[in-house]
Amino acid sequence: MSDYLPINSNSLRADTKIGCDLHLLVKTSTGSRYVLYCGGDTIFEDDKREILVKKNINRLFIQKEEQGEYFKYLESNFQNIMSDPRIPPYELTQIVYNATANLVKDLFKDPRVANIKRTKEFAHNIVDYILQESKAAHSLLKIATHEYYTYTHSVNVAAVGTLFAKNLGFEENDLKQLCSGVLLHDIGKTKISTDILNKKGKLTEEEFQEIKEHPEKGVAILKETGNGFRDEYVVTLQHHENYDGTGYPYGLQREEIHSSGRIVRIIDVYDALTTNRSYSKAMRPFAALLEMKENMINYFDKEMFNKFICFLGPYDPRGEQRESDKLQN
Ligand SMILES: [Fe+2]
Repeated sequence: MSDYLPINSNSLRADTKIGCDLHLLVKTSTGSRYVLYCGGDTIFEDDKREILVKKNINRLFIQKEEQGEYFKYLESNFQNIMSDPRIPPYELTQIVYNATANLVKDLFKDPRVANIKRTKEFAHNIVDYILQESKAAHSLLKIATHEYYTYTHSVNVAAVGTLFAKNLGFEENDLKQLCSGVLLHDIGKTKISTDILNKKGKLTEEEFQEIKEHPEKGVAILKETGNGFRDEYVVTLQHHENYDGTGYPYGLQREEIHSSGRIVRIIDVYDALTTNRSYSKAMRPFAALLEMKENMINYFDKEMFNKFICFLGPYDPRGEQRESDKLQN
């Protein structure tokens, strides 16, 4: 039997086609069962929405295998959803996170122009959300998943990176470029063999050389789509450049690396350390920051790294703020 997921009925606009079947959970003499309320291919008419409002039902259910369709619906209707006061802030954050994760999953499956454009458009919505919703930072950091997938990694780094850049004083347009660039930053990995990407043991020299090509391959993909992605090139190209010049692909150092590239270098490593990987367990935030300070500090712009510690402090879900204070000089 299918698994069902609850959704907030306030996220559904009247007179739109949702794209997945909507079910009610109905109590029966023997327990409960799911009953079809509106088919995915039919219009969710206003009277259907009114019935839910009158009966005070704000939970509907979708089949798990159809969640991609629902998230795509949320993505297309995001402006309306974001301005709906009936959707609580925490659910709004989940909508942002899930719609973005679904979008990036599609992007990695099919990294062609339509999905690349879709990513850029939605990145702008994410920034609007971050700028409008005062609680966005706390809830987005809390929701960032600890299981590693290329697509959730990109979403985590985009969410944390954009929030951190806002904290550093980036303006709206720069935030939008950064967020879009970060969602796309690993797109070059789609041109690298999955055997190498998923390899559990140590990489051979040749395999590592191939991995090191993903920033330039990413820029090549963006260039194929035309000139609309110039702003995203820098993050894609520079996210593995180290502050001390030991990174790749060009061995750039210090201010030769754009500020967006320096931000993403820090958060890319932080997210990789704090999520479960095939070869290592997720570290707690304090342990990850300590590891970065003790063993990798030359990779980062140190001033920016200290600001990142200050930025994470108040949001640390495990209340390690006092410990993280010790990390600064
Ligand atoms: Fe990368």
